[in-house]
Amino acid sequence: MNRSGSPVSVRDVDIRFDDFVAVRQANLDIAGGEFVCLLGPSGCGKSTLLNAIAGFVKPVGGEVTCADARVTGPDVSRGVVFQSAEALFPWLTVRQNVDFGPRMRGVGRAQRSAAVDRYLAMVGLSHSADRFPGQLSGGMRQRAQLARVLANEPSIVLMDEPFGALDAQTRLVMQVELDRIWRDTGATIVFVTHDIGEAILLGDRIVTMTAGPSAAIKNVYPCDLPRPRDLTDPASAALFRRLREDIGAEVARTLRAQGLDDGHDATGPGNGGERNAGGDRKARR
Ligand SMILES: Nc1ncnc2c1ncn2[C@@H]1O[C@H](COP(=O)(O)OP(=O)(O)O)[C@@H](O)[C@H]1O
Ligand SMILES: [Mg+2]
Repeated sequence: MNRSGSPVSVRDVDIRFDDFVAVRQANLDIAGGEFVCLLGPSGCGKSTLLNAIAGFVKPVGGEVTCADARVTGPDVSRGVVFQSAEALFPWLTVRQNVDFGPRMRGVGRAQRSAAVDRYLAMVGLSHSADRFPGQLSGGMRQRAQLARVLANEPSIVLMDEPFGALDAQTRLVMQVELDRIWRDTGATIVFVTHDIGEAILLGDRIVTMTAGPSAAIKNVYPCDLPRPRDLTDPASAALFRRLREDIGAEVARTLRAQGLDDGHDATGPGNGGERNAGGDRKARR
């Protein structure tokens, strides 16, 4: 079992790529063991913010702290799962991939073997341990990536649209399993998605972002529906509509900024859309 998840604090974070301001004044406090979904339209800056928490991207202003220590670069305590499983070593078997991190850290053979078995079982890959990544389906490769990250016993797992390339049925299975795995490990999870339903299935809180450039945290929606969740229940459906309005306003804004108009109000009929979005702002629980 992992140690319990660490808190994460994003404080006044500004991120620039040369002259391009990707993220401006992002602020977010994440509790230890919390599951937070970062939701926003494509290109708004979700990956950029996640990469700052991972330590891959250095903010030009503000700071990210994990368990009160400033993030200055990547660390095994913050595991990252990417959308594409190219992160797996194709020349190693699933077992060897999962074993890689603990082996590099000098963990003894017997302890490693027990940990690898445990995490392979947790992600449902025990039967495929001796296969190579190229012999696995997309869903199995994502399971392998997750097991490889978990084998490092991270206190924070950062996931960037990890199920985005999977077919709809596989995605649903993976979402249910991630919910279970998160509860088993107690890790903090920050999960990036542009899929509203996925955010509702998984998040303790759902954080929306404004469209970039200069993307910021827009609204924070606490979500305490009982797990495992059901998107067809009325409370989920109501939250879905609110989130669709929130994200729709950002998409519409981007289209207008590009001189394109999609010809209808993306926030949907009968509501104030963008004007009301700020009124949804919620304090941390
Ligand atoms: N390394 C980079 N260099 C320059 N611009 C970048 C870089 N990474 C991201 N961006 C820009 O920052 C913005 C946000 O990108 P990203 O965080 O990938 O969005 P999202 O993950 O929400 O789709 C985009 O305009 C993107 O082009
Ligand atoms: Mg992205």
